[in-house]
Amino acid sequence: MGKGFHISKTVGIVGIVLGAGALATIIALSVVYSQEKSKNENEVKPTDAATSAPTTAPSNEPWDQWRLPQTLSPQTYNVTLWPRLKPDPTGLYIFTGMSSVVFRCLEKTNLILIHSNKLNMTKQPTLTAFGSKPAPTIESIVMHTKTQYMAIHLKDELAAGESYELYTEFVGELADDLGGFYRSEYNETGVKKVVATTQMQPTDARKAFPCFDEPAMKAVFYITLYHDPATVALSNGVVIEPYFVNITADGTLVTRTTFAPTEVMSTYLLAFIVSDFGFIEQNIDKLQIRIFARQEAINAGQGEYALNVTGPILKFFEKYYNVPYPLPKSDQIALPDFNAGAMENWGLITYRETALLYDEEISSNGNKERIVTIIAHELAHQWFGNLVTLRWWNDLWLNEGFASYVEYLGADEAEPDWNVKDLIVLNDVHRVFAIDALASSHPLSFKEEEIQRPEQINEVFDTISYSKGASVLRMLSDFLTETVFTQGLQTYLDNFKFSNTVYTDLWHHLQLAVNGTGTSLPKSVQEIMDRWILQMGFPVVTINTTTGQITQEHFLLDPESKPDRSSEFNYEWFVPISWTKKEVAQPLYWLLKKTDQSNDMKISVDEWVLANIYVTGYYRVNYDNDNWQRLLNVLQNSTTHNNQHIPVINRAQLIDDAFNLAKAGIIETTLALRTTLFLNSETEYMPWEAALDNLDYFYLMFDRTEVYGPMQVSLKVKYLFDYFTRLTNWEDVPKGHTDQYNQINALRVACSTGNEECKTLITGWFKQWMANPNVNPIKASLRSTVYCSAIAAGGEEEWNFAWEMFENATIASEKDKLRAAMACATEPWLLNRYLKYTLDPEKIRKQDATSTIISIASNVVGQPLAWDFVRANWEYIFKQYGGGSFSFSNLINGVTKRFSTQFELQQLIQFRDDNTHIGFGSGTLAIEQSIERTNANIKWVEKNQEAVLEWFKKPS
Ligand SMILES: *[C@@H]1O[C@H](CO)[C@@H](O)[C@H](O)[C@H]1NC(C)=O
Ligand SMILES: *[C@@H]1O[C@H](CO)[C@@H](O)[C@H](O)[C@H]1NC(C)=O
Ligand SMILES: *[C@@H]1O[C@H](CO)[C@@H](O)[C@H](O)[C@H]1NC(C)=O
Ligand SMILES: *[C@@H]1O[C@H](CO)[C@@H](O)[C@H](O)[C@H]1NC(C)=O
Ligand SMILES: [Zn+2]
Repeated sequence: MGKGFHISKTVGIVGIVLGAGALATIIALSVVYSQEKSKNENEVKPTDAATSAPTTAPSNEPWDQWRLPQTLSPQTYNVTLWPRLKPDPTGLYIFTGMSSVVFRCLEKTNLILIHSNKLNMTKQPTLTAFGSKPAPTIESIVMHTKTQYMAIHLKDELAAGESYELYTEFVGELADDLGGFYRSEYNETGVKKVVATTQMQPTDARKAFPCFDEPAMKAVFYITLYHDPATVALSNGVVIEPYFVNITADGTLVTRTTFAPTEVMSTYLLAFIVSDFGFIEQNIDKLQIRIFARQEAINAGQGEYALNVTGPILKFFEKYYNVPYPLPKSDQIALPDFNAGAMENWGLITYRETALLYDEEISSNGNKERIVTIIAHELAHQWFGNLVTLRWWNDLWLNEGFASYVEYLGADEAEPDWNVKDLIVLNDVHRVFAIDALASSHPLSFKEEEIQRPEQINEVFDTISYSKGASVLRMLSDFLTETVFTQGLQTYLDNFKFSNTVYTDLWHHLQLAVNGTGTSLPKSVQEIMDRWILQMGFPVVTINTTTGQITQEHFLLDPESKPDRSSEFNYEWFVPISWTKKEVAQPLYWLLKKTDQSNDMKISVDEWVLANIYVTGYYRVNYDNDNWQRLLNVLQNSTTHNNQHIPVINRAQLIDDAFNLAKAGIIETTLALRTTLFLNSETEYMPWEAALDNLDYFYLMFDRTEVYGPMQVSLKVKYLFDYFTRLTNWEDVPKGHTDQYNQINALRVACSTGNEECKTLITGWFKQWMANPNVNPIKASLRSTVYCSAIAAGGEEEWNFAWEMFENATIASEKDKLRAAMACATEPWLLNRYLKYTLDPEKIRKQDATSTIISIASNVVGQPLAWDFVRANWEYIFKQYGGGSFSFSNLINGVTKRFSTQFELQQLIQFRDDNTHIGFGSGTLAIEQSIERTNANIKWVEKNQEAVLEWFKKPS
């Protein structure tokens, strides 16, 4: 494994030639192979373990480098692919293909290095020259499986400035591995159906056809697909003449669908799909918008919501970017098996079903929010990412952070009544603070050479890139003002369209906008942003309102930890501080050094200071005790239910900052707990959610200790539950978007803290459903909570009923709710059985395996079972579920987040050491972060258990 795999003369590979009218032809490959090269290759140590650092001195041979040499530059590809949706006689699903690539030689060389992974050549590749001189003869071809290259050694050199065409024919497996060209399966009207689809990002286009698979190697793609006449073929471009032509190939009648050449684009944005899906469409101006899904889903109207929001969001981005949508069509398709949430392939966006399909009756508002934000995210990429592409994966944060920020702007356009923009604070800022406060975090931007191997590239797709990226860009847009920000953005896009950039190119254009508008900044855009981009973490800003002193310090969750890397900026930032004195907004204050003095922030006793208004800044805030006390008073003594003195986002911030400052030992834990007292009169979602998120941590740490009992008693959250009982008596769903979330929280917390009324209500609903499975009486928005509570309260009968409903559900979001709820069971044997199901793709789809295990682990009964399970099956999980898959870091974080004892720490370290030879793939960093988090938890529990117990016995 991991060694170079050579095509030898003696190996005849059975392949099927794809070609108009061609019948099955078997071609014995005659690829010469060089003894010397093979020796060389054997010296490369196997490194199938993703974590293993290069242990031998890396060879300098180009095929042992992870990056392509700059000698060749692709211009156009002509790719024809034929996926077989039925297995061959040996049970294998395959696809065949032929591809030619025209490239220019930039520097003379006798080596063509092109990516190719898991493809078997079925014909001797051929090289032709466009110039007057004939192309050099091919001397040998060596496949390098580790670095995923096909190396074509030539007898003579290619000449700089000349163009050549390389032609290949190949066969690959259409596996169910969710990467490259793969298959997805589902049942419809009792018939098993197969879809051929793709996921190229980041490094799997090379698994579909040989290509120069780096984002800066942009080219034009001519795509043709062969498929069964009863199916439809889709790709990035529109179908062009000769449209759909029936031909005979390999003895079968197939349709050949030809697509218009793409724009100049990166390989990772390609998509090819063959299915018998249905679709709905709408034309806006000249733009064709279509939503594809399983026929049943389309017929049930599940694509309507996506179709309705796409037009307005596209129009919004056209205005925002001041660039028309670059393509003639926009297809979006929901796939039964899909690893990520969605993928922004240019003109053909792929989604998980739950991220695109919505059913008015069955789906919740939460499902709807997920759909509209993901659609906005992917549409945002059609310009930012697709039209203008970052040169290399080290800058992924800019691509993903940007889309993760503007997805809220796009969603807000489609759902203006939701205040969805506020939610970025909970969903991204607060969430990523928790990870970025670890000493084992990492800076947003990497050096190009730090990100080389596919699993390193996969690892960059993490919360830091997405959520911290979004948070700092939001901060930037805020202090520049949206007008200046969009102006810089617009010239950036216009200047770099169809090409590649590095992140400083954006800074440059923002600076031009700043200069052009005369905006005043204390430093240049680049100087300010370098501090947020090039060093990990973020500051806690402490404002002393007695002295007027303002200081900043690197915020670390474990105060005794030392950052894993040093920073050229000494962990100091240029911090834009928005603030109010009482309720009066003050001019933006820039903290440009470690400690500063502001006489404005020195206040009298009847005043108070609040900083980081709307949490537009990526930092936490601490105050002197007196100001904290005054803020608590303002919160508690508000005469209205709505605490109007302090904006709702900042009410959430005060709670989240206080709890985290307490975790880091900066303030007392009891002060943090006191920030929750005002919730007695709080009816807004965000402060409640912030409190519940933080109290969840208390549950994680203490639900196996004596603290649990008193905590349960004190958290009965009678207030919210009564509020909703009064408001609607649970018959209705509140109108407001976040009020619905509040209702869910009320029910969830009331039930989980043992509120009897709540339990009766929930088990009643569930029994009613069990009595008549065809009529589900439970409100869509409450289902997740009701299912979970009812299964927790029930036994085998409830569980089995849920399983049956899971298998019969016709919309993926309903399946997801049941799947998560089945993890709430409290009988260990049910959970153990469920864990086994997660590794059986007939029961739980591969795409859902890790999230199911994580759900089980978040249940106090399930946690030790899930941990044992992951440890026992690590090798299998790692191999089956792909060394490069995105979800390993989630899996590791998920099963270990409760760890807070020495014993658990030892187990975790043991697990890491025992599995070094297998590796952790994209979860490598997550292991280190888990160890650090466990250490911090151990210390925190030791230090705080007593005080927390006392407080919950007598809250004050
Ligand atoms: C692409 O290849 C096919 C088959 O080899 C050929 O028929 C077609 O003309 C080619 N298209 C272009 C644009 O070169
Ligand atoms: C490619 O060749 C390898 C080695 O001979 C074989 O195991 C594999 O099944 C082949 N793949 C396909 C899709 O034919
Ligand atoms: C699909 O249906 C077949 C036959 O009806 C059944 O054997 C199989 O388990 C089903 N597969 C899934 C994934 O539901
Ligand atoms: C191709 O063949 C199918 C099945 O025989 C037929 O339904 C379809 O109309 C044909 N399409 C074209 C373009 O000839
Ligand atoms: Zn994205």
